[in-house]
Amino acid sequence: MKAVLVSSFGGPEVLHEAEVDKPAPGAGQVRLAIRRVGVNPFDAKLRSGVMEAAFHTELPTILGMEVAGVVDALGEGVTDLKVGDEVLGWSDTGAYAEYALAGPSLLVKPAGLDWDVAAALPVAAETSLRVLHLLGVASGETLLIHGASGAVGAMAAQLAVARGVTVIGTASAANQDYLTSLGVTPTTYGDGLVERVRALAPNGVDAVFDTAGRGALPDSIELRGGTERIVTIADQAAQSLGIPFSSGTAADRSIPELAAVADQVLSGKVVVTVAATYPLAEAARAHTVIDSGHAGGKLVLTVSRTG
Ligand SMILES: NC(=O)c1ccc[n+]([C@@H]2O[C@H](COP(=O)([O-])OP(=O)(O)OC[C@H]3O[C@@H](n4cnc5c(N)ncnc54)[C@H](OP(=O)(O)O)[C@@H]3O)[C@@H](O)[C@H]2O)c1
Repeated sequence: MKAVLVSSFGGPEVLHEAEVDKPAPGAGQVRLAIRRVGVNPFDAKLRSGVMEAAFHTELPTILGMEVAGVVDALGEGVTDLKVGDEVLGWSDTGAYAEYALAGPSLLVKPAGLDWDVAAALPVAAETSLRVLHLLGVASGETLLIHGASGAVGAMAAQLAVARGVTVIGTASAANQDYLTSLGVTPTTYGDGLVERVRALAPNGVDAVFDTAGRGALPDSIELRGGTERIVTIADQAAQSLGIPFSSGTAADRSIPELAAVADQVLSGKVVVTVAATYPLAEAARAHTVIDSGHAGGKLVLTVSRTG
């Protein structure tokens, strides 16, 4: 099968297409014919080698774990899925490829859910729900989201707004109207953030979700008057500042919760912005954009155009 491999750490140019063996599903696994793969900043961090100290990657490797595809073969003991089922979720093996293996972290794709959107949902939905839960934000409260125009930030913002939370979100000047369209009170990131947020929320913010990881934790602590109810998913300074850094594990992947978010998307209550799609062979172009930090929404690789 065709796959995009990383054989040495580096810039987007290290991503290269190669012919590799089609994987065979083990017990409890299915093989997926991949239709779409979500491109995550995490993939780019693995590719560059910056994650090596915390998370070792054996090379060569195939990146990608956020998938939408069709069940193509069943491993021993799989009874809840059948060949031909259309699914979305997380793969066990690298999904920048024509085929990948997946375990139980799959949702049968609801009828009418667009393939690109399906591949853009799992990580943003799981991460948002996990952190909103950790922060314990409730109706009537005010939540500050750093990076509310990003794939995770936009999802978290909309899920919070749907719960009756007032969301103040940061984004570049170009994305202020986008945030307004999501029901978010927008502001820009960078110098003067504390004053801008205080002007928008004179009674203070109840919680802070940092999706950007761009040095906004000290401002967040100032706005909160301490470290309570601040969570980051991306700032390595978290530990030294006494802020929880939340990372997802397989145990956090709730298929019923993913189904509920997919329903919100289908009913138009939550919008998923797919900024661009690229053919699998052009994964390097997608990584150049994701490395910029301003993708403008989710990037998706099209592996197969069937569906
Ligand atoms: N720990 C976890 O469980 C977990 C899970 C998922 C993702 N992540 C991490 O979370 C981060 C966000 O992921 P994503 O998929 O949402 O990325 P993304 O779609 O690329 O979004 C990046 C966001 O950062 C904003 N941004 C860019 N430069 C900034 C700056 N200098 N200051 C403040 N904000 C800035 C962008 O705003 P503009 O585009 O408007 O400039 C955008 O809102 C990544 O680092 C990713 O690896 C962690």
